[in-house]
Amino acid sequence: MEKLILPNGLEVSNVALGAMNFGTTTSKEDAFAVLDAYIDMGGNFIDTSNNYAHWQGTGDESETLLGEYFESRKCRDKIVLATKVGFDRHGEGQGLRKEQIEYWIDESLRKLKTDYIDLYYAHTDDITTPLEETMEAFHSLVEKGKVRHLGGSNYDTWRFAEANSVAKTPFTVMQQWFTYLQAKGDVAPQYIFNEYTTRERLRYLEAKNIPLVAYSCLAKGGYEVPERLPEELVAGTRLETLKNMAKEKGVTASALAVAWMVNLHRCDGFPRVIPLFGSSNVEHFVSNLKGAEISLTDEELKLLNNA
Ligand SMILES: NC(=O)c1ccc[n+]([C@@H]2O[C@H](COP(=O)([O-])OP(=O)(O)OC[C@H]3O[C@@H](n4cnc5c(N)ncnc54)[C@H](OP(=O)(O)O)[C@@H]3O)[C@@H](O)[C@H]2O)c1
Repeated sequence: MEKLILPNGLEVSNVALGAMNFGTTTSKEDAFAVLDAYIDMGGNFIDTSNNYAHWQGTGDESETLLGEYFESRKCRDKIVLATKVGFDRHGEGQGLRKEQIEYWIDESLRKLKTDYIDLYYAHTDDITTPLEETMEAFHSLVEKGKVRHLGGSNYDTWRFAEANSVAKTPFTVMQQWFTYLQAKGDVAPQYIFNEYTTRERLRYLEAKNIPLVAYSCLAKGGYEVPERLPEELVAGTRLETLKNMAKEKGVTASALAVAWMVNLHRCDGFPRVIPLFGSSNVEHFVSNLKGAEISLTDEELKLLNNA
């Protein structure tokens, strides 16, 4: 897997591993196997949150499992570790007030068995707290050495830009829902936080040289199992084009979607996109990861873009 140096200086693999279900619906044994496979193939960019996966458990499981993994494999220093703060977990944790950020960073460090986080995300906007308070609290974590870099997730683009305009340490990475398929028009999303990435957002990121970490980028399994395709996405000719090209290349449609995202920065109007996905199944995971190695021709990119 290729390594990239991000504009903030972090050196990461071109695909990130999502640990959201590790320790809840994905057993420890399966999670360790996926983590081992990812690192063996050159991966180093791991994503979790202080609330994963609270809808299946307490919200401590993913970070706790990763802490155990780093200890067992003695590999923390080889990993670029991202976690998040700001979403609810059983009635606690929602928001980005100073005292919340200060409390949850220490919880994350304890569970992850580490004394620093490489990339700390605001998981979602908090419109009830002044941006100045939030960004100052994050900045002070950087000054204390608990956090190296900041990211923002699930912000409206204009709020992300406003946060950065008041920040001493700005968000240098954005994490947002993005995949090959497009969303069904500008409708209200099911949850306000999970707004799909628009062309305007992409152009903003390109202009500011901010990479996009793309979550739910495998359409939640919908490229392989049609019933899993989120209803917000349009299948149509775009899905057909992806599946036909994948068949010609002898890879899965998920792997080709990964390849498209990895190659997309070569096209005008697109930022660097880092696909973020996990799996409970090593075979699925490794076959999807193969997409990171596929170099698409200009003609192939054009065909996929114009479908
Ligand atoms: N910032 C945010 O608000 C936010 C929101 C959501 C997610 N995330 C991050 O993004 C990561 C990934 O997101 P996600 O889990 O929502 O979506 P995703 O990566 O689009 O989809 C994951 C699903 O795809 C399935 N899948 C993959 N390959 C398959 C195959 N060959 N056959 C059948 N199913 C297959 C997996 O099932 P199997 O387990 O069976 O392979 C899994 O259920 C998370 O781990 C988390 O780190 C962030």
